[in-house]
Order: sequence, then structure tokens, then C-alpha cells
Amino acid sequence: MASNWPQVISKLNRDKEYRQAFSQLYSDGITGLNIQNAIAEFERSLTTPNSRFDLWLVGDESALSEQEKHGYSLFKSYGCIACHQGTNVGGNMYHHMGAMGNYFSDRDGEVTAADLGRFNVTGDPEDRHLFKVPSLRLTALTSPYFHDGRTHSLEKAITIMARYQLGREMPKEDVEAIAVFIKSLAGQHPRLNHDEMGEICTHPISATTRYCSGGADLYTDPLHRCGDA
Ligand code: HEC
Repeated sequence: MASNWPQVISKLNRDKEYRQAFSQLYSDGITGLNIQNAIAEFERSLTTPNSRFDLWLVGDESALSEQEKHGYSLFKSYGCIACHQGTNVGGNMYHHMGAMGNYFSDRDGEVTAADLGRFNVTGDPEDRHLFKVPSLRLTALTSPYFHDGRTHSLEKAITIMARYQLGREMPKEDVEAIAVFIKSLAGQHPRLNHDEMGEICTHPISATTRYCSGGADLYTDPLHRCGDA
């Protein structure tokens, strides 16, 4: 995010743990290719089955709160599903950032190379500002948002999406309902906090442990925390 390979490599090289981990796994240590390989391996682990949303889809009416169901309904009626769709609620197409408004000039008017998106890969002028529509499955746990990493709150990200992808100013209560719906999409997944990276979260789903957030500090709602049933 808003960085380049020499910066990334030198940053990782300053960290003893990363130096050790890379030298254990790759004979040539920290290189751009090895970083890509490591990130791809990590991304392969990011499946998140048994989310409360999935349980609701297969018939458990009590798996979602009324506000979460309302958020899902708004997510469909506002048209978020035009882009964030399918099993992964996204991840299956590219779209321009700023379909209905100029995100970049409103942001700060400065366009970086990273802002050009897929154009950097294809060189096709039509691909300027084209980005992969991300899956929203684990979005509640993976702030900051967008390719530039400048948006830290989920609510702000939703407001930006409504404004620049749909041309709508979204009232606060709708933003909040969609945010709780998005939080219900995370199921069981590897822990995403740095200290316990890679550990698979295996807490059972039950009435008191609705699902395992993997980063307990990210939620204030006790129903969303990891814990014993
Ligand atoms: C026209 C297509 C389109 C529509 C409609 C759309 N999105 Fe997006 N969404 C995108 C794209 C493309 C990105 C990635 C943009 C970037 O990286 O700069 C994105 C990113 C996001 C992100 C940030 C995810 C992350 O991991 O960084 C959230 C949250 C999000 N969208 C929610 C929504 C919501 C909620 C709606 C409906 C109000 C919506 N989107 C409507 C295309 C769309």
C-alpha cells in the first residue's frame, strides 16, 4: 500500500523476526519474489467458513441480529452487490475507483503511480484507476482500506463507497447497519493479529461464542469475541 519494493525490503530487513523467518524458508532470504510468495501462501489460508451470515443463509434465523439482516437488505438495495458479489462477496471482477465521482481529486488531487491500479500491469489507458473489487469476507478485520490504505474505519469506507461508486450520500444509520452486516461475514479463520499469526482459530460456534473474530480487540460487542462457550 502506497509503497515500493526497495522500501518494503529494507523495512522487513530491519526486523529481526522477519529476517529469521525468511532465511528459514527461502535460501535467498528477503526478496520481492519471496515476499510475494509468502503473501500468496498467507492469502491461501484466508478462508473463513461458518460465519454467522453463512449459518443464517442455511436456515438459522437467530444467527443474525435484526440490524445485521437490515444491513444485508441495504447492501442489496443500494447496489453494493453490483460489484461485491458471489460466495466471497467480491473478488471476482475489477472496477474503477470513483465510478460516480472523482475520488482522487477529492482526496488530495495528487495521483501516485499506485493510484493507477491495473494500468500499471496492462498499460491500457482504460485500466487507469481500475482495481480488484475486494472480497468483504474479512474486511472487518483488515483495516486500513482501499489500495491507498488511507481509510481506517469501516464506516468511513462504506460512506466513501456510497459516494464514489454509487453517487449517494448514505445516512449514518444505514452505514452502521451495513457495517454490522459486513462484520457478520467473518467466520473461522487464522488469527490476524501479529503475535499469533498463523494459528487457526478453532473455538466452537455456540450461543455464547457466536464466531471467532481472531482479533478480539477489534470488536466491542461481546457476542463477537473469541472465548470459551
Ligand atoms: C462499482 C463497483 C462497486 C460498488 C457499487 C461498490 N464497491 Fe466497494 N469496492 C469497489 C472497489 C473497486 C474497491 C477497491 C477500491 C480500492 O482499492 O481503491 C472496493 C472496496 C470496498 C471496501 C474496502 C475493502 C478493503 O479491503 O479495502 C469496502 C468496505 C467496500 N468496498 C464496501 C462497499 C459497500 C458497502 C458498497 C455499497 C454501498 C460498495 N462497496 C459498492 C467496487 C465497488
